Amino acid sequence: MSKIELKKNIFWVGAIDWNVRNFHGYTYSTKRGTTYNAYLVLDDKIALVDTVMASFAEDLIKNIEAITDPLKIDYVIVNHVEDDHTGALPKILDIAKNAQVVCTKKCQEGLFRHYYKNWNFKIVKTGDSIFLGNKTLNFIETPMIHWPDSMFTYIPEDNLLLSNDAFGQHIASSERFDDEIDGCVLMEESEKYYANILIPLSFIISAKLSEIIKSGIKVDMIAPSHGIIWRNNPAQIIKAYSGWSSGLPLKKDILIVYETMWGATAKMASAMSAAIVDEGLKVKIYDINLGDHTEIIKDILNAKCLLIGSSTHDNHMLPNIAGFLGLIKGLKLKGRKAAAFGSYGWSGESAGHIEKLLAESGLKIINAPLTVKYVPSSQDIESCKDFGRRIAKEIISEE
Ligand code: FEO
Repeated sequence: MSKIELKKNIFWVGAIDWNVRNFHGYTYSTKRGTTYNAYLVLDDKIALVDTVMASFAEDLIKNIEAITDPLKIDYVIVNHVEDDHTGALPKILDIAKNAQVVCTKKCQEGLFRHYYKNWNFKIVKTGDSIFLGNKTLNFIETPMIHWPDSMFTYIPEDNLLLSNDAFGQHIASSERFDDEIDGCVLMEESEKYYANILIPLSFIISAKLSEIIKSGIKVDMIAPSHGIIWRNNPAQIIKAYSGWSSGLPLKKDILIVYETMWGATAKMASAMSAAIVDEGLKVKIYDINLGDHTEIIKDILNAKCLLIGSSTHDNHMLPNIAGFLGLIKGLKLKGRKAAAFGSYGWSGESAGHIEKLLAESGLKIINAPLTVKYVPSSQDIESCKDFGRRIAKEIISEE
């Protein structure tokens, strides 16, 4: 592969993981793969910013060797401790024996608890910098974007922000820059990444964005540690993050997610959906066993209301919808409404349990649970439509 130069003497030296399909212990499905971006800054002193997943260490070393001898690296900047960015760190430091490891205090603690090595650490905080000869590395702590240890590295001479997990996407591609790939795919994957990884941290992101904007630093390129580099239009992703980090739904869409044993709960969902669409709102329906939970969570960004359904089984909801509700709780959603529904044979507890979990997750319940015994009759179908209609009207009537 030819050298990929972002700015004069700043190179992408990361790795492309075409085949990864699950991330974060199966909490995130990565249908388009991902990249682990690392950057090499060549100056009087040489800095490597972030590394890659351990299994891609040889790719990283090979990419560095195409530019310089890795033994000459003076600093390894660790913006974030998580394995996908530090897995190759031990191998790099075996080669670059004199390199200092530059990171936040929390990152040092995290690195020790991952690798149990007493490397030559240099602890930095917001406002600290390292001058390499012609270029400066400025550090900005960004706790909880996406772990407590996280930070950004900013190079003022190039107006370049190396943002680690922020502004990233899980896309494996032979292209590295935003002007080289399909813009719809780029925004779809950015949205999915935000919803699945960052939405619970929205209030922190919003405050950090304001702080960075107020500081007046000029950014004309954002190079995250996953996916595509924003060189053509970094303002596009900053604007998107400003909207998403409000934590509020951006549209009035309704999301229906259900699990069904013999299809009765699915029929309820379908009838509700038809009535909602007739009222003029957009709706998406997912059978939790057929849909991809990462895609479903992406759609929560635009959903004003969640309708969650399950058949009753052993006096409870079905297991996969229960797991999904666990994910929902972790998202700490704001400003969204919800209602529960489900079919049953004789006891019918599922919808009540769902409603309880939705309320505990911070969603405002706007309708009592709707239940149907066995298979919906034509009268039950009308009740489901009425349920959908009432919910749509309430959402439409909101300011
Ligand atoms: Fe890409 Fe929080 O690691």
